[in-house]
Amino acid sequence: MPIYYNEQTKTFRLDAGKASYAFCVGPCDTLIHLYFGPRIPDGDLSGLEFSLGLSSFSPNPPGMAGSRFTLDAALQEYPANGAGDYRLSALAIRGENGSSATCLRYRSHEIRDGKYALEGMPAVYAGEAAAQTLDVLLEDPLTGAEVHLLYGVIEGFDAITRAAVIRNAGSAPFVIEKAASAALDFPRMDFDLVHLYGQWAQERQLSRAPLTHDIRTIASKRGSSSHNHTPFAALAGKYTSETHGEAYGMSLIYSGSFAIETECDAYDAARAVLGINPIDFEWILAPGERFSTPEAVLVYSGEGLGGMSRTFHKLYRRHLCRGEWKEKIRPILVNNWEATYFNFNEEKLLAIAKDAAELGIEMLVMDDGWFGKRNDDKSSLGDWFVNEEKLKGGLKPLVEKVNALGLQFGIWFEPEMISPDSDLFRVHPDWVLCAPGRKPSIARNQYVLDMTRKEVRDYLFDTISGVLHSANIAYVKWDFNRNLTEAASPALPPERRKETGHRYVLGLYELLERLTSAFPRVLFEGCSGGGGRFDPAMLYYSPQIWTSDDSDAIERCRIQYGTSFVYPPSSISAHVSAVPNHQTGRVTDFSTRGNVAMAGAFGYELDLTKLTAEEKELVKQQVAQYHAYAPLVQDGDFYRLISPFEDENRCAWMSVSPDRSEALVTFVVPKTKVNFTSYLRLAGLDPDRFYEDSLTGAVRSGSLLMNAGLNLSRTWRDGESVLIHLKAVQ
Ligand code: DGJ
Repeated sequence: MPIYYNEQTKTFRLDAGKASYAFCVGPCDTLIHLYFGPRIPDGDLSGLEFSLGLSSFSPNPPGMAGSRFTLDAALQEYPANGAGDYRLSALAIRGENGSSATCLRYRSHEIRDGKYALEGMPAVYAGEAAAQTLDVLLEDPLTGAEVHLLYGVIEGFDAITRAAVIRNAGSAPFVIEKAASAALDFPRMDFDLVHLYGQWAQERQLSRAPLTHDIRTIASKRGSSSHNHTPFAALAGKYTSETHGEAYGMSLIYSGSFAIETECDAYDAARAVLGINPIDFEWILAPGERFSTPEAVLVYSGEGLGGMSRTFHKLYRRHLCRGEWKEKIRPILVNNWEATYFNFNEEKLLAIAKDAAELGIEMLVMDDGWFGKRNDDKSSLGDWFVNEEKLKGGLKPLVEKVNALGLQFGIWFEPEMISPDSDLFRVHPDWVLCAPGRKPSIARNQYVLDMTRKEVRDYLFDTISGVLHSANIAYVKWDFNRNLTEAASPALPPERRKETGHRYVLGLYELLERLTSAFPRVLFEGCSGGGGRFDPAMLYYSPQIWTSDDSDAIERCRIQYGTSFVYPPSSISAHVSAVPNHQTGRVTDFSTRGNVAMAGAFGYELDLTKLTAEEKELVKQQVAQYHAYAPLVQDGDFYRLISPFEDENRCAWMSVSPDRSEALVTFVVPKTKVNFTSYLRLAGLDPDRFYEDSLTGAVRSGSLLMNAGLNLSRTWRDGESVLIHLKAVQ
């Protein structure tokens, strides 16, 4: 059993793979955090509580006058606001008395088999025998708030999942001002904060800087997880590298406004708190009602940042992604967006499909512009009816012709949006999400639909289902091209309007759940102006996500490298596009464009009819390579080898099959230099086995390849790259 409780010491211990996590019931029945780190044997953990009773400026709880115990310096599991701990809090509840001082006391706990689920929200799942749940009940005697702290452990994973469920067991409503998913305290602060920031077309860039005595927040207020930050941060030891040292990864399974806050206090202790962004958030909980936070996943790695990422990859691939496509090799698709933009008709699509079929591509995806009167981005969002001027006779005949060529067919939607110039808007202007009395801000000529309203979700379910039933559609790209503004739903009473952001996300999840259940065979791909909503929660509904609107292979090295810190390669949708690249104007080798895209869910995003005969031969080769390597990429262990954030001349990564009999190495030269020497030290191989490399045919031991490396010294041109396949021969 991975979860234990010691009656004598009132200590909880969770053993999660190679990690242990411990806390106890301390003074005043407060939950005191004791330990998170490498696996420890059962034994005495007393004395680890960090509580100094420093001065009169760190108060004692009522009834503990003169004691050494102060919440202000204690390591806590779920710190509450305004009652003696001046650091970041996890919970703030405003009661009838108007005060947000909150007080939590341990009442009971339960250990059960299986992994808890969260109502209406994505969470990691596992079979009954493969997981355990610890449910600790805390209560606030004044407001009657009951807080269930949920902890999950899944066999074989160095990870703890956490969430909180709050129930109003009192007799009056109260207001939740902040409810984090988890807090994590350390009696030290010698960490670097690692996180991923970005913007449109430049998502998930790597940042690493030492913690200092301050509060730092990685957050989104956009109503969406956003291009600007993904809901992830790690605390890494000062000397932690890709391969060595400790790293604590924190990831939030949520698609809305979030905050990951860190604070280092005057006593050199560090605290991290992650959850729904408390800014612009409140939730009124009536007696008897419950509120669930999203789930947080805490990963411990003693094998550097690479080890942390591999735990996230496996956990999210196996225990978060769902459905028919979760483990399947994804089809090679061609998407017409960069090929035609809005300027297409049936003839044009069929010409692309015909070439695609000849080249071995497996699916045609029809992107934006097939519905309403949409010939540019100025109209028709919401009118999910085929534009018969473009597609004469509708969808069915087109899909049948594409299927007859041997290709599957996929389609684009942007369900959560409405154009002011649309039939939907003319009938339902009230469906726009906007605070009463305000005019809605406009972005890309569109407004956001009020997803908190059931009638809006029903309309979307019916119209999207209608399209999906009307033809043999195998894939849906779910786009979202702007963020929320004036986000206060008129459908809610004024005192509840700060619930809008979270209710929007719950509405989105409900619609996605209905559609993915109704169409279990359809492959859903998430998208938000590229990777603006690339988060774990979306992976629960769509096992792959369009990573960025920047399809330049060289820029993609950084974007995909950053994305791999949390998200598995199988989820990273990557396409070969035309040159000069539409976003950067750069001209990159066709083979490099293929090699970089091969690291994810592979496809094309160009007009195949315009390729030269030589390029078409290269497409055929890439298709064959994908068939040979996709199982390795999608199911293998991913190792980052050279960071494009640290080396402007080189970038490299590799995938190793679970049995270590095969590997695929990608080496890219974004920018060359004279006298280019490069010994590429590999990782993850079996040191005692011998591998033949596809580049030279030489057979070398795993040990040699990992310690001396592959000698790739030669003259490289800007943007050149190579894929090297390694096969164990002994
Ligand atoms: C943004 C997406 O990221 C693109 O791939 C494309 O689908 C456009 N939207 C269409 O409007």
